[in-house]
Amino acid sequence: MGYVLGIWDGHDSGAALLQDGKILFAINEERLTRRKLEILFPELSIEACLNYAKVKKEEINIIAAATYDLAKTLTRLFPGLKENYYQVRRKKKYPSYVETQKKWKLFLTGIRPTHFTKKLSEILLIRKLRHIGFKNFQLFLVDHHTAHAACAAYCSPFSDSTVLTIDGVGDGLSASVQLLQNGKLTSLAKTSAQDSLGVFFELITFLLNMRELEDEGKVMCLADMAHPDLKNPMLDFFTVDGLTVKAAYSPEKMFLKLKELAFKLPWEQFAWMGQKTLEAKLVELFKNALNKTQLLDTSWAGGVASNIKANQKIRLFSGLKNWFVFPHMGDGGLALGSALYVQSLMIPNMKISFTDPYLGPSFTEDEIAKTAKNFNLTYKSTGSIEQKGAEILADGNILLWFQGRMEYGPRALGNRSILASAENQEAKTLLNKILKRRSWFQPFCPTILFESANHLLEDWDGNPSPFMTMGYQIKPEQRKKMEAVTGPDGSSRPQLLQNENLIYRNLLENYQKLTGYSSVLNTSFNRHGEPLVCSPEQAFSVFLEAGFPYLIIGPYLFENPNSDLVKKFKNTVSRKSCVS
Ligand SMILES: [Fe+2]
Repeated sequence: MGYVLGIWDGHDSGAALLQDGKILFAINEERLTRRKLEILFPELSIEACLNYAKVKKEEINIIAAATYDLAKTLTRLFPGLKENYYQVRRKKKYPSYVETQKKWKLFLTGIRPTHFTKKLSEILLIRKLRHIGFKNFQLFLVDHHTAHAACAAYCSPFSDSTVLTIDGVGDGLSASVQLLQNGKLTSLAKTSAQDSLGVFFELITFLLNMRELEDEGKVMCLADMAHPDLKNPMLDFFTVDGLTVKAAYSPEKMFLKLKELAFKLPWEQFAWMGQKTLEAKLVELFKNALNKTQLLDTSWAGGVASNIKANQKIRLFSGLKNWFVFPHMGDGGLALGSALYVQSLMIPNMKISFTDPYLGPSFTEDEIAKTAKNFNLTYKSTGSIEQKGAEILADGNILLWFQGRMEYGPRALGNRSILASAENQEAKTLLNKILKRRSWFQPFCPTILFESANHLLEDWDGNPSPFMTMGYQIKPEQRKKMEAVTGPDGSSRPQLLQNENLIYRNLLENYQKLTGYSSVLNTSFNRHGEPLVCSPEQAFSVFLEAGFPYLIIGPYLFENPNSDLVKKFKNTVSRKSCVS
Protein backbone atom coordinates (compact mmCIF):
# COMPACT_ATOMS: atom_id res chain seq x y z
CA MET A 1 0.00 0.00 0.00
CA GLY A 2 2.86 2.37 0.69
CA TYR A 3 3.35 5.67 2.36
CA VAL A 4 1.05 8.58 3.15
CA LEU A 5 2.76 11.86 3.92
CA GLY A 6 0.70 14.42 5.85
CA ILE A 7 1.67 18.07 5.81
CA TRP A 8 0.39 21.19 7.56
CA ASP A 9 1.61 24.59 6.43
CA GLY A 10 -0.08 26.93 8.91
CA HIS A 11 0.25 27.82 12.62
CA ASP A 12 2.63 25.19 14.15
CA SER A 13 3.40 23.63 10.76
CA GLY A 14 4.70 20.09 10.50
CA ALA A 15 4.68 16.71 8.78
CA ALA A 16 3.81 13.10 9.55
CA LEU A 17 4.55 9.86 7.73
CA LEU A 18 2.33 6.78 7.75
CA GLN A 19 2.99 3.39 6.21
CA ASP A 20 0.22 0.82 5.87
CA GLY A 21 -1.77 2.30 8.74
CA LYS A 22 1.20 2.71 11.07
CA ILE A 23 2.54 6.08 12.21
CA LEU A 24 6.27 6.05 11.47
CA PHE A 25 7.28 9.58 12.33
CA ALA A 26 5.75 12.97 13.12
CA ILE A 27 7.29 16.31 13.96
CA ASN A 28 6.60 20.04 13.91
CA GLU A 29 8.73 22.57 12.14
CA GLU A 30 9.35 24.60 15.34
CA ARG A 31 11.57 21.84 16.70
CA LEU A 32 13.85 22.18 13.68
CA THR A 33 13.83 25.92 12.91
CA ARG A 34 13.79 26.67 16.70
CA ARG A 35 11.01 29.27 16.27
CA LYS A 36 8.10 28.44 18.54
CA LEU A 37 4.88 27.52 16.74
CA GLU A 38 6.58 28.02 13.36
CA ILE A 39 4.43 29.01 10.41
CA LEU A 40 6.83 28.32 7.53
CA PHE A 41 6.18 25.57 4.98
CA PRO A 42 7.30 22.34 6.73
CA GLU A 43 10.28 21.52 4.51
CA LEU A 44 12.53 20.45 7.37
CA SER A 45 9.80 18.31 8.92
CA ILE A 46 9.23 16.58 5.58
CA GLU A 47 12.98 15.89 5.30
CA ALA A 48 13.03 14.52 8.85
CA CYS A 49 10.12 12.16 8.09
CA LEU A 50 11.75 10.86 4.92
CA ASN A 51 15.20 10.51 6.51
CA TYR A 52 13.74 8.45 9.35
CA ALA A 53 12.08 6.01 6.97
CA LYS A 54 14.98 6.18 4.48
CA VAL A 55 12.52 7.04 1.74
CA LYS A 56 13.11 9.27 -1.27
CA LYS A 57 10.65 11.94 -2.35
CA GLU A 58 10.00 10.01 -5.58
CA GLU A 59 8.67 7.10 -3.53
CA ILE A 60 5.91 9.19 -1.96
CA ASN A 61 2.75 8.84 -4.02
CA ILE A 62 0.16 10.14 -1.61
CA ILE A 63 0.31 13.49 0.17
CA ALA A 64 -2.44 14.83 2.42
CA ALA A 65 -2.84 18.43 3.57
CA ALA A 66 -5.50 20.15 5.64
CA THR A 67 -7.59 23.31 5.13
CA TYR A 68 -8.48 25.22 2.00
CA ASP A 69 -10.54 28.20 3.16
CA LEU A 70 -9.95 31.72 1.83
CA ALA A 71 -7.61 32.83 4.65
CA LYS A 72 -5.39 29.75 4.30
CA THR A 73 -5.39 29.96 0.51
CA LEU A 74 -4.37 33.63 0.65
CA THR A 75 -1.40 32.80 2.89
CA ARG A 76 -0.37 30.09 0.41
CA LEU A 77 -0.49 32.72 -2.32
CA PHE A 78 1.19 35.45 -0.24
CA PRO A 79 3.28 33.72 2.51
CA GLY A 80 4.40 37.17 3.76
CA LEU A 81 0.93 37.67 5.27
CA LYS A 82 1.61 34.77 7.63
CA GLU A 83 4.92 36.20 8.79
CA ASN A 84 3.41 39.58 9.62
CA TYR A 85 0.63 38.02 11.70
CA TYR A 86 3.16 35.70 13.39
CA GLN A 87 5.34 38.63 14.45
CA VAL A 88 2.39 40.63 15.78
CA ARG A 89 0.75 37.66 17.54
CA ARG A 90 3.97 36.70 19.33
CA LYS A 91 4.42 40.34 20.33
CA LYS A 92 7.67 40.64 18.40
CA LYS A 93 6.27 43.49 16.36
CA TYR A 94 3.92 46.31 17.35
CA PRO A 95 0.99 46.49 14.96
CA SER A 96 0.15 49.85 13.52
CA TYR A 97 -3.61 49.31 13.64
CA VAL A 98 -4.36 46.65 16.23
CA GLU A 99 -8.11 46.73 16.00
CA THR A 100 -8.28 47.03 12.24
CA GLN A 101 -6.00 44.00 11.91
CA LYS A 102 -8.09 42.10 14.42
CA LYS A 103 -11.29 42.88 12.53
CA TRP A 104 -9.77 41.77 9.23
CA LYS A 105 -8.52 38.56 10.74
CA LEU A 106 -11.93 37.78 12.24
CA PHE A 107 -13.62 38.58 8.94
CA LEU A 108 -11.25 36.65 6.68
CA THR A 109 -10.87 33.50 8.77
CA GLY A 110 -14.65 33.20 9.09
CA ILE A 111 -15.21 32.86 5.32
CA ARG A 112 -16.09 29.31 4.29
CA PRO A 113 -14.07 27.46 1.67
CA THR A 114 -15.40 27.30 -1.89
CA HIS A 115 -14.63 25.17 -4.93
CA PHE A 116 -12.40 28.03 -6.09
CA THR A 117 -10.34 28.31 -2.86
CA LYS A 118 -9.93 24.52 -2.80
CA LYS A 119 -8.72 24.44 -6.41
CA LEU A 120 -6.36 27.37 -5.86
CA SER A 121 -4.96 25.84 -2.65
CA GLU A 122 -4.42 22.59 -4.53
CA ILE A 123 -2.53 24.32 -7.37
CA LEU A 124 -0.34 26.28 -4.93
CA LEU A 125 0.49 23.26 -2.81
CA ILE A 126 1.27 21.04 -5.81
CA ARG A 127 3.54 23.76 -7.18
CA LYS A 128 5.37 24.06 -3.86
CA LEU A 129 5.72 20.29 -3.42
CA ARG A 130 7.07 19.90 -6.97
CA HIS A 131 9.48 22.72 -6.30
CA ILE A 132 10.99 20.85 -3.34
CA GLY A 133 11.39 17.62 -5.28
CA PHE A 134 8.19 15.56 -5.14
CA LYS A 135 7.30 14.11 -8.53
CA ASN A 136 4.56 11.55 -8.96
CA PHE A 137 2.08 12.14 -6.22
CA GLN A 138 -1.59 12.63 -5.68
CA LEU A 139 -2.57 15.47 -3.33
CA PHE A 140 -5.61 15.08 -1.06
CA LEU A 141 -6.98 18.21 0.61
CA VAL A 142 -8.75 17.36 3.86
CA ASP A 143 -11.26 19.59 5.59
CA HIS A 144 -9.80 21.21 8.75
CA HIS A 145 -12.25 19.70 11.26
CA THR A 146 -12.17 16.30 9.57
CA ALA A 147 -8.40 16.27 10.12
CA HIS A 148 -8.84 17.19 13.82
CA ALA A 149 -11.54 14.50 14.15
CA ALA A 150 -9.34 11.86 12.46
CA CYS A 151 -6.64 12.35 15.14
CA ALA A 152 -9.16 12.01 17.96
CA ALA A 153 -11.06 9.09 16.44
CA TYR A 154 -8.37 6.87 14.94
CA CYS A 155 -5.80 7.32 17.72
CA SER A 156 -8.35 6.66 20.47
CA PRO A 157 -8.60 3.17 21.93
CA PHE A 158 -12.30 2.97 20.92
CA SER A 159 -13.65 1.07 17.93
CA ASP A 160 -16.85 3.19 17.92
CA SER A 161 -17.09 6.58 19.57
CA THR A 162 -18.62 10.03 19.67
CA VAL A 163 -16.06 12.47 18.30
CA LEU A 164 -16.04 16.22 18.87
CA THR A 165 -13.79 18.92 17.49
CA ILE A 166 -13.59 22.39 19.02
CA ASP A 167 -11.22 25.15 17.94
CA GLY A 168 -11.03 28.79 16.94
CA VAL A 169 -11.71 28.49 13.26
CA GLY A 170 -10.82 26.27 10.31
CA ASP A 171 -12.55 25.94 6.93
CA GLY A 172 -15.40 28.13 8.16
CA LEU A 173 -16.17 26.00 11.22
CA SER A 174 -15.36 26.13 14.91
CA ALA A 175 -16.80 22.84 16.18
CA SER A 176 -18.26 19.59 14.96
CA VAL A 177 -19.95 16.49 16.31
CA GLN A 178 -19.03 13.30 14.48
CA LEU A 179 -19.42 9.57 14.83
CA LEU A 180 -16.78 6.91 14.40
CA GLN A 181 -18.45 3.64 13.40
CA ASN A 182 -16.96 0.72 11.48
CA GLY A 183 -13.81 2.75 10.87
CA LYS A 184 -15.72 5.59 9.20
CA LEU A 185 -16.27 9.15 10.37
CA THR A 186 -19.73 10.62 9.84
CA SER A 187 -20.51 14.25 10.54
CA LEU A 188 -23.66 14.89 12.60
CA ALA A 189 -23.42 18.66 13.16
CA LYS A 190 -21.19 21.63 12.47
CA THR A 191 -20.83 24.94 14.29
CA SER A 192 -19.97 27.94 12.15
CA ALA A 193 -16.84 30.05 12.66
CA GLN A 194 -19.17 32.96 13.45
CA ASP A 195 -20.23 31.12 16.64
CA SER A 196 -16.77 30.16 17.84
CA LEU A 197 -16.06 29.43 21.50
CA GLY A 198 -12.40 29.18 20.50
CA VAL A 199 -12.35 32.70 19.02
CA PHE A 200 -14.16 33.94 22.15
CA PHE A 201 -11.38 32.56 24.36
CA GLU A 202 -8.73 33.80 21.92
CA LEU A 203 -10.16 37.33 22.25
CA ILE A 204 -10.10 37.10 26.04
CA THR A 205 -6.44 36.07 25.83
CA PHE A 206 -5.69 39.01 23.54
CA LEU A 207 -7.52 41.50 25.77
CA LEU A 208 -5.49 40.30 28.75
CA ASN A 209 -2.39 41.36 26.80
CA MET A 210 -1.35 37.76 26.27
CA ARG A 211 -0.51 35.96 23.03
CA GLU A 212 -3.59 34.51 21.33
CA LEU A 213 -3.21 30.90 20.11
CA GLU A 214 -0.47 30.42 22.70
CA ASP A 215 -1.33 31.77 26.15
CA GLU A 216 -4.88 30.47 26.53
CA GLY A 217 -3.56 28.07 29.21
CA LYS A 218 -2.38 31.08 31.21
CA VAL A 219 -5.88 32.56 31.09
CA MET A 220 -7.23 29.26 32.41
CA CYS A 221 -4.77 29.41 35.34
CA LEU A 222 -5.37 33.11 35.99
CA ALA A 223 -9.07 32.32 36.40
CA ASP A 224 -8.20 30.33 39.55
CA MET A 225 -7.14 33.57 41.24
CA ALA A 226 -10.59 35.16 40.95
CA HIS A 227 -13.31 35.39 43.54
CA PRO A 228 -16.04 33.24 42.06
CA ASP A 229 -18.75 35.69 41.15
CA LEU A 230 -22.38 34.70 40.92
CA LYS A 231 -23.07 36.96 37.97
CA ASN A 232 -21.32 36.07 34.74
CA PRO A 233 -22.56 38.18 31.82
CA MET A 234 -20.46 36.14 29.37
CA LEU A 235 -22.80 33.17 29.82
CA ASP A 236 -25.29 35.07 27.63
CA PHE A 237 -22.78 35.34 24.79
CA PHE A 238 -23.59 31.79 23.63
CA THR A 239 -26.42 29.29 23.61
CA VAL A 240 -26.06 25.62 22.85
CA ASP A 241 -28.73 24.58 20.40
CA GLY A 242 -28.75 20.78 20.15
CA LEU A 243 -25.44 19.80 18.62
CA THR A 244 -24.34 23.29 17.66
CA VAL A 245 -23.29 26.48 19.40
CA LYS A 246 -24.87 29.84 18.59
CA ALA A 247 -23.24 33.17 19.43
CA ALA A 248 -25.37 36.15 20.45
CA TYR A 249 -23.00 38.54 18.62
CA SER A 250 -20.81 38.52 15.54
CA PRO A 251 -17.09 38.03 16.35
CA GLU A 252 -16.48 41.77 15.75
CA LYS A 253 -19.32 42.77 18.10
CA MET A 254 -18.21 40.20 20.67
CA PHE A 255 -14.74 41.75 20.62
CA LEU A 256 -16.23 45.15 21.50
CA LYS A 257 -18.43 43.66 24.26
CA LEU A 258 -15.43 41.83 25.75
CA LYS A 259 -13.32 44.95 25.51
CA GLU A 260 -15.88 46.83 27.56
CA LEU A 261 -15.88 44.10 30.22
CA ALA A 262 -12.07 43.93 30.26
CA PHE A 263 -12.00 47.66 30.92
CA LYS A 264 -14.31 47.34 33.93
CA LEU A 265 -13.07 44.13 35.53
CA PRO A 266 -9.94 42.96 37.33
CA TRP A 267 -7.94 40.65 35.04
CA GLU A 268 -8.51 37.50 37.03
CA GLN A 269 -12.27 38.12 37.19
CA PHE A 270 -12.37 38.64 33.43
CA ALA A 271 -10.41 35.40 32.91
CA TRP A 272 -12.71 33.54 35.32
CA MET A 273 -15.84 34.61 33.44
CA GLY A 274 -14.35 33.43 30.17
CA GLN A 275 -13.21 30.10 31.60
CA LYS A 276 -16.56 29.38 33.28
CA THR A 277 -18.45 30.25 30.12
CA LEU A 278 -16.27 27.93 28.06
CA GLU A 279 -16.72 25.10 30.55
CA ALA A 280 -20.50 25.49 30.84
CA LYS A 281 -21.12 25.64 27.09
CA LEU A 282 -18.84 22.70 26.32
CA VAL A 283 -20.44 20.49 28.96
CA GLU A 284 -23.84 21.27 27.46
CA LEU A 285 -22.63 20.55 23.92
CA PHE A 286 -21.03 17.24 24.92
CA LYS A 287 -24.14 16.24 26.92
CA ASN A 288 -26.38 16.85 23.93
CA ALA A 289 -23.99 14.98 21.62
CA LEU A 290 -23.90 11.93 23.89
CA ASN A 291 -27.68 11.96 24.30
CA LYS A 292 -28.02 11.94 20.55
CA THR A 293 -25.45 9.25 19.73
CA GLN A 294 -25.79 7.08 22.84
CA LEU A 295 -22.13 6.18 22.26
CA LEU A 296 -20.55 7.12 25.58
CA ASP A 297 -16.92 6.49 24.62
CA THR A 298 -15.87 9.98 23.62
CA SER A 299 -12.82 11.42 21.93
CA TRP A 300 -12.05 15.02 21.08
CA ALA A 301 -9.42 17.33 19.56
CA GLY A 302 -8.98 20.90 18.30
CA GLY A 303 -7.16 23.78 20.00
CA VAL A 304 -9.83 24.26 22.70
CA ALA A 305 -9.17 20.66 23.86
CA SER A 306 -5.91 21.94 25.37
CA ASN A 307 -8.02 23.52 28.14
CA ILE A 308 -7.59 20.79 30.75
CA LYS A 309 -10.07 22.34 33.15
CA ALA A 310 -12.81 22.39 30.53
CA ASN A 311 -11.82 18.77 29.74
CA GLN A 312 -12.16 17.94 33.43
CA LYS A 313 -15.69 19.39 33.55
CA ILE A 314 -16.61 17.50 30.38
CA ARG A 315 -15.29 14.29 31.93
CA LEU A 316 -17.21 14.81 35.15
CA PHE A 317 -20.50 16.28 33.97
CA SER A 318 -21.27 15.35 30.36
CA GLY A 319 -22.24 11.74 31.06
CA LEU A 320 -19.39 10.20 29.04
CA LYS A 321 -17.96 6.81 30.00
CA ASN A 322 -14.44 6.54 28.61
CA TRP A 323 -12.58 9.44 27.09
CA PHE A 324 -9.60 10.21 24.86
CA VAL A 325 -8.15 13.66 24.16
CA PHE A 326 -5.67 13.62 21.29
CA PRO A 327 -2.37 14.89 22.76
CA HIS A 328 -1.44 17.15 19.83
CA MET A 329 -4.91 18.65 19.84
CA GLY A 330 -4.24 22.02 18.15
CA ASP A 331 -3.43 22.78 14.53
CA GLY A 332 0.05 21.31 15.04
CA GLY A 333 -1.64 17.88 14.82
CA LEU A 334 -3.25 18.54 11.43
CA ALA A 335 -0.46 16.97 9.35
CA LEU A 336 -1.03 13.68 11.13
CA GLY A 337 -4.81 14.16 11.08
CA SER A 338 -5.00 14.68 7.32
CA ALA A 339 -2.70 11.68 6.70
CA LEU A 340 -4.82 9.52 9.01
CA TYR A 341 -8.03 10.53 7.27
CA VAL A 342 -6.66 9.75 3.81
CA GLN A 343 -5.26 6.45 5.08
CA SER A 344 -8.68 5.57 6.56
CA LEU A 345 -10.18 5.82 3.08
CA MET A 346 -7.80 3.07 1.98
CA ILE A 347 -7.87 0.68 4.92
CA PRO A 348 -11.29 -0.68 5.93
CA ASN A 349 -11.88 -0.39 9.67
CA MET A 350 -8.52 1.25 10.23
CA LYS A 351 -7.33 1.52 13.83
CA ILE A 352 -4.06 3.11 14.85
CA SER A 353 -2.19 1.87 17.85
CA PHE A 354 -1.33 5.21 19.45
CA THR A 355 0.17 4.04 22.71
CA ASP A 356 2.93 6.61 23.04
CA PRO A 357 3.75 10.06 21.69
CA TYR A 358 7.47 9.42 21.00
CA LEU A 359 7.35 9.95 17.24
CA GLY A 360 10.28 12.30 16.68
CA PRO A 361 14.01 11.82 16.11
CA SER A 362 16.41 9.98 18.39
CA PHE A 363 20.22 10.08 18.56
CA THR A 364 22.76 7.28 18.89
CA GLU A 365 25.20 7.01 21.79
CA ASP A 366 28.01 7.84 19.34
CA GLU A 367 26.26 11.00 18.19
CA ILE A 368 25.70 12.09 21.80
CA ALA A 369 29.33 11.42 22.74
CA LYS A 370 30.63 13.32 19.69
CA THR A 371 28.43 16.33 20.43
CA ALA A 372 29.57 16.30 24.06
CA LYS A 373 33.16 16.44 22.86
CA ASN A 374 32.38 19.54 20.80
CA PHE A 375 31.17 21.19 24.01
CA ASN A 376 34.28 20.02 25.90
CA LEU A 377 32.07 17.99 28.18
CA THR A 378 33.01 14.65 29.65
CA TYR A 379 30.53 12.16 30.94
CA LYS A 380 30.56 9.82 33.85
CA SER A 381 29.85 6.16 33.42
CA THR A 382 27.31 4.87 35.78
CA GLY A 383 25.88 1.39 36.24
CA SER A 384 22.22 2.30 35.91
CA ILE A 385 21.22 5.70 34.63
CA GLU A 386 17.71 5.23 36.05
CA GLN A 387 19.17 4.62 39.53
CA LYS A 388 21.61 7.52 39.31
CA GLY A 389 18.86 9.85 38.07
CA ALA A 390 16.61 8.79 40.94
CA GLU A 391 19.38 9.52 43.46
CA ILE A 392 19.95 12.98 41.99
CA LEU A 393 16.24 13.76 42.31
CA ALA A 394 15.99 12.23 45.77
CA ASP A 395 18.78 14.55 46.89
CA GLY A 396 16.52 17.43 45.95
CA ASN A 397 18.23 18.40 42.70
CA ILE A 398 16.83 19.46 39.38
CA LEU A 399 17.62 16.94 36.63
CA LEU A 400 17.72 17.57 32.88
CA TRP A 401 16.58 14.32 31.30
CA PHE A 402 16.93 13.43 27.58
CA GLN A 403 16.14 9.97 26.21
CA GLY A 404 15.06 8.23 23.00
CA ARG A 405 12.69 9.73 20.44
CA MET A 406 11.35 13.24 20.94
CA GLU A 407 7.72 13.74 21.97
CA TYR A 408 5.10 14.73 19.39
CA GLY A 409 2.85 17.53 20.67
CA PRO A 410 3.17 20.31 23.21
CA ARG A 411 3.95 18.25 26.32
CA ALA A 412 7.25 16.78 27.50
CA LEU A 413 6.41 13.26 28.59
CA GLY A 414 9.68 11.88 29.87
CA ASN A 415 12.02 12.00 26.87
CA ARG A 416 12.83 15.74 26.81
CA SER A 417 11.93 16.67 30.39
CA ILE A 418 13.22 18.72 33.30
CA LEU A 419 12.48 16.85 36.51
CA ALA A 420 12.42 17.78 40.17
CA SER A 421 10.70 16.83 43.38
CA ALA A 422 6.94 17.42 43.23
CA GLU A 423 7.09 18.68 46.80
CA ASN A 424 9.86 21.21 46.41
CA GLN A 425 8.52 24.75 45.97
CA GLU A 426 12.08 26.09 45.93
CA ALA A 427 12.93 24.02 42.87
CA LYS A 428 9.85 25.46 41.20
CA THR A 429 10.91 29.03 41.99
CA LEU A 430 14.42 28.38 40.76
CA LEU A 431 13.22 26.78 37.55
CA ASN A 432 11.12 29.84 36.86
CA LYS A 433 13.90 32.24 37.71
CA ILE A 434 16.57 30.63 35.58
CA LEU A 435 14.78 29.01 32.72
CA LYS A 436 11.03 28.80 32.46
CA ARG A 437 9.72 32.21 33.52
CA ARG A 438 6.17 30.95 33.82
CA SER A 439 3.65 33.39 35.25
CA TRP A 440 3.43 33.11 39.02
CA PHE A 441 -0.10 31.71 38.84
CA GLN A 442 0.85 28.83 36.50
CA PRO A 443 1.56 25.57 38.34
CA PHE A 444 3.96 22.93 37.02
CA CYS A 445 2.68 19.44 36.24
CA PRO A 446 3.57 16.02 37.59
CA THR A 447 4.28 12.58 36.24
CA ILE A 448 2.63 10.03 38.50
CA LEU A 449 3.10 6.29 38.50
CA PHE A 450 -0.19 4.91 37.19
CA GLU A 451 -0.70 2.65 40.20
CA SER A 452 -0.78 5.68 42.50
CA ALA A 453 -3.51 7.53 40.60
CA ASN A 454 -6.28 6.29 42.84
CA HIS A 455 -4.31 7.17 45.93
CA LEU A 456 -3.42 10.71 44.85
CA LEU A 457 -6.32 11.88 42.68
CA GLU A 458 -9.72 12.66 44.12
CA ASP A 459 -11.71 12.35 40.91
CA TRP A 460 -9.79 9.69 39.01
CA ASP A 461 -12.14 7.66 36.84
CA GLY A 462 -9.90 4.73 35.91
CA ASN A 463 -9.06 6.08 32.44
CA PRO A 464 -5.36 5.85 31.52
CA SER A 465 -4.60 9.60 30.98
CA PRO A 466 -1.01 9.20 29.72
CA PHE A 467 -0.64 12.51 27.84
CA MET A 468 -1.25 15.39 30.29
CA THR A 469 -4.52 16.33 28.62
CA MET A 470 -6.86 16.09 31.59
CA GLY A 471 -7.37 18.01 34.83
CA TYR A 472 -7.84 16.22 38.15
CA GLN A 473 -8.12 17.29 41.79
CA ILE A 474 -5.27 16.21 44.05
CA LYS A 475 -6.66 14.73 47.27
CA PRO A 476 -6.47 17.39 50.02
CA GLU A 477 -4.30 15.21 52.25
CA GLN A 478 -1.77 14.73 49.41
CA ARG A 479 -1.45 18.39 48.39
CA LYS A 480 1.38 19.26 50.73
CA LYS A 481 3.53 16.49 49.23
CA MET A 482 2.73 17.72 45.73
CA GLU A 483 2.83 21.44 46.38
CA ALA A 484 5.00 22.29 43.39
CA VAL A 485 2.57 20.64 40.96
CA THR A 486 -0.81 21.58 42.43
CA GLY A 487 -2.82 24.65 41.47
CA PRO A 488 -4.38 26.97 44.06
CA ASP A 489 -7.71 25.14 43.73
CA GLY A 490 -6.08 21.73 44.23
CA SER A 491 -6.12 20.85 40.54
CA SER A 492 -3.33 19.29 38.54
CA ARG A 493 -2.56 18.05 35.02
CA PRO A 494 -0.74 14.76 35.53
CA GLN A 495 0.87 12.29 33.17
CA LEU A 496 -0.11 8.86 34.45
CA LEU A 497 2.79 6.64 33.50
CA GLN A 498 2.39 2.96 32.69
CA ASN A 499 4.81 0.92 30.56
CA GLU A 500 4.91 3.14 27.48
CA ASN A 501 8.29 4.55 28.54
CA LEU A 502 10.25 1.95 30.47
CA ILE A 503 13.41 3.98 31.16
CA TYR A 504 11.37 6.83 32.58
CA ARG A 505 9.25 4.39 34.53
CA ASN A 506 12.35 2.75 36.05
CA LEU A 507 13.58 6.19 37.08
CA LEU A 508 10.29 6.92 38.88
CA GLU A 509 10.16 3.49 40.52
CA ASN A 510 13.70 3.95 41.84
CA TYR A 511 12.80 7.42 43.07
CA GLN A 512 9.79 5.96 44.86
CA LYS A 513 12.01 3.37 46.56
CA LEU A 514 14.34 6.13 47.77
CA THR A 515 11.79 8.70 48.87
CA GLY A 516 8.41 7.10 49.13
CA TYR A 517 7.06 9.51 46.50
CA SER A 518 5.42 8.20 43.35
CA SER A 519 5.36 11.51 41.48
CA VAL A 520 7.85 14.06 40.19
CA LEU A 521 7.58 17.53 38.72
CA ASN A 522 7.93 17.21 34.95
CA THR A 523 8.29 20.28 32.78
CA SER A 524 9.44 20.64 29.18
CA PHE A 525 13.17 20.75 28.46
CA ASN A 526 13.51 24.16 26.82
CA ARG A 527 14.40 27.78 27.40
CA HIS A 528 11.60 30.26 27.99
CA GLY A 529 9.90 31.13 24.69
CA GLU A 530 11.67 28.36 22.75
CA PRO A 531 10.37 25.00 21.56
CA LEU A 532 11.25 21.73 23.30
CA VAL A 533 14.90 20.76 22.73
CA CYS A 534 15.23 18.29 19.90
CA SER A 535 18.94 17.40 19.65
CA PRO A 536 21.75 16.74 22.15
CA GLU A 537 23.41 19.95 20.94
CA GLN A 538 20.42 22.02 22.08
CA ALA A 539 20.28 20.09 25.35
CA PHE A 540 23.96 20.76 26.12
CA SER A 541 23.53 24.40 25.29
CA VAL A 542 20.62 24.81 27.76
CA PHE A 543 22.51 22.78 30.37
CA LEU A 544 25.59 25.00 30.24
CA GLU A 545 23.82 28.30 29.83
CA ALA A 546 21.35 27.73 32.67
CA GLY A 547 24.03 26.28 34.91
CA PHE A 548 22.02 23.30 36.09
CA PRO A 549 24.06 20.68 37.91
CA TYR A 550 22.98 17.43 36.23
CA LEU A 551 22.12 16.33 32.73
CA ILE A 552 21.45 12.77 31.68
CA ILE A 553 21.42 12.03 27.95
CA GLY A 554 20.94 8.42 26.90
CA PRO A 555 23.28 6.38 29.12
CA TYR A 556 25.55 9.32 30.00
CA LEU A 557 25.61 11.52 33.08
CA PHE A 558 27.03 15.03 32.74
CA GLU A 559 27.83 17.10 35.78
CA ASN A 560 28.32 20.81 35.83
CA PRO A 561 31.12 21.32 38.33
CA ASN A 562 30.61 25.06 38.48
CA SER A 563 26.98 24.87 39.40
CA ASP A 564 26.22 26.24 42.84
CA LEU A 565 22.68 24.95 42.49
CA VAL A 566 23.78 21.56 43.82
CA LYS A 567 24.54 23.01 47.22
CA LYS A 568 21.38 25.04 47.24
CA PHE A 569 19.21 21.98 46.96
CA LYS A 570 21.19 19.31 48.67
CA ASN A 571 18.92 17.37 50.99
CA THR A 572 15.96 19.69 50.87
CA VAL A 573 13.83 16.59 50.38
CA SER A 574 14.03 14.27 53.33
CA ARG A 575 14.25 10.76 51.98
CA LYS A 576 11.45 8.43 53.00
CA SER A 577 9.72 11.41 54.59
CA CYS A 578 6.36 10.05 53.60
CA VAL A 579 4.82 7.21 51.70
CA SER A 580 2.60 8.04 48.77
FE1 LIG B 1 -7.95 23.96 14.26
